Amino acid sequence: MYRSTSLLRSLRFRLIASVVSIEVIMLSLLVWNNISIIQTTHTDRLRDTASSMIQQIANTLGSYMVAVDYASLDDYLSNIINYKELSYIVVIDRDGNTVTAHGKASPKARPTIDSHPAQVTDGVFDIAEDIKVAGQPMGRVLTGFSLSNMEDAINKSRTRGITIASIEIILTVVATVLIGLGFTRRLGMLSNAATQVEMGNYSVTLPTDTNDEVATTAAAFNRMVTEVSSRTRQLEQEESRSRKLLAENRQLIHTSLEVQEEERKHMARELHDELGQCLTAIQADAELIRDLSHDTDKKIETSAVAIMDVSSHVYDVVHSMMHRLRPSILDNLGLIEALKDEVDAWSARHPETRCTFEQSGELLDLGERTNITLYRVVQECLTNISKHANSNEVIIALHNDGRVLTLSIDDDGVGVDLDTRLSGLGLIGMRERADAIGGHFEINSAPDKGMHIRLTIEQMAKTEHHE
Ligand SMILES: Nc1ncnc2c1ncn2[C@@H]1O[C@H](COP(=O)(O)OP(=O)(O)O)[C@@H](O)[C@H]1O
Ligand SMILES: [Mg+2]
Repeated sequence: MYRSTSLLRSLRFRLIASVVSIEVIMLSLLVWNNISIIQTTHTDRLRDTASSMIQQIANTLGSYMVAVDYASLDDYLSNIINYKELSYIVVIDRDGNTVTAHGKASPKARPTIDSHPAQVTDGVFDIAEDIKVAGQPMGRVLTGFSLSNMEDAINKSRTRGITIASIEIILTVVATVLIGLGFTRRLGMLSNAATQVEMGNYSVTLPTDTNDEVATTAAAFNRMVTEVSSRTRQLEQEESRSRKLLAENRQLIHTSLEVQEEERKHMARELHDELGQCLTAIQADAELIRDLSHDTDKKIETSAVAIMDVSSHVYDVVHSMMHRLRPSILDNLGLIEALKDEVDAWSARHPETRCTFEQSGELLDLGERTNITLYRVVQECLTNISKHANSNEVIIALHNDGRVLTLSIDDDGVGVDLDTRLSGLGLIGMRERADAIGGHFEINSAPDKGMHIRLTIEQMAKTEHHE
């Protein structure tokens, strides 16, 4: 699957964004630095000009005032006011009255005298000087120097700086985008190829002709794909071989289970027909001998009775063997009766364990293979419980809801840790028997939690395996 990268996380975007941010910061610093240099230079120059000019004006005014020549004083000031940076000149006498005022911004209220041109707020640097003649105070001169020149220079420098910065940023973005595009396009090829490999297409190869880092990576990628491809093929071959072996093994187990079942049936019949007949004959002959020797020979009679006892015992043993090999009740009375019989016989042998059998649903016509499978599973479970479980209660339940047939055998015994390797063939045999008729076999157990066995057969699946 191909993941589309979001804009913010894309390499291309991050590359451009970081370059542009660095550019903006550096250029802003540069512009700010330029402006502050201009400001300092202009301020210094203005302060020097202002203080030397006002000094000179104060001196000249002093001499006119001593001579009381106010006409020449006015003339002088109207010349001076033409100086382009000067916005006003006001002369006041000793008592603070205005003697004369020149310039556009001659303020009614006296301005506060500024100490530093850069700290002015109204755009005019106000400065004052006492007028003294021979040490005697005559009055005061107040002048204002306009800062518009400096502001013009600063504005111009700012505009120029921003223009240069913009051009530089645009050029950088273009260059970065071009390099970035080329770079990320090739990275994109790498990522696409990786996605292809992920989807199982090992035929992808990347071009390696550019002789740079990306090409080296691409070459390494190609080698890796070849390696992965050959290993995957090898693994697949091995896997299919093991799958085949496993299938054959299971087939073998299924067949041997069937053969075993067939053989048991055959032997049971043989025992019944042959040995059973012989034992009956021996029994009959022994009885005859006993009756005939009853009044004649006590010794012969005792021997005949002994033969009858032994043959009767052999008959019981043969009968029990026959039952284990193939319970005739299964064939004669069906699964339910056979299971009840098995549970009763087991309970009689194990009175310390309460064993119950419950059943519900349609269980009469399950077919011989299913019947024998269910019977053998119950038989093996009961054997295991008597051998390993040490339980107080066993519940065997068989239910058919029309869709699924479920056999469960639950005991409350010591249980077993299923993660450990269990020896024995009982559990494996049950699983294989279940599998052979298309059933599903489950074991649940833990130490002290008993063992819970569940065999489910879907009725559709059952029909297929029905003989
Ligand atoms: N009902 C049970 N309760 C506790 N442990 C069990 C039970 N059934 C089986 N086991 C454990 O599982 C092992 C494997 O069982 P099985 O395959 O039938 O082999 P076997 O009965 O020949 O030992 C047993 O050895 C025993 O440890
Ligand atoms: Mg067993």
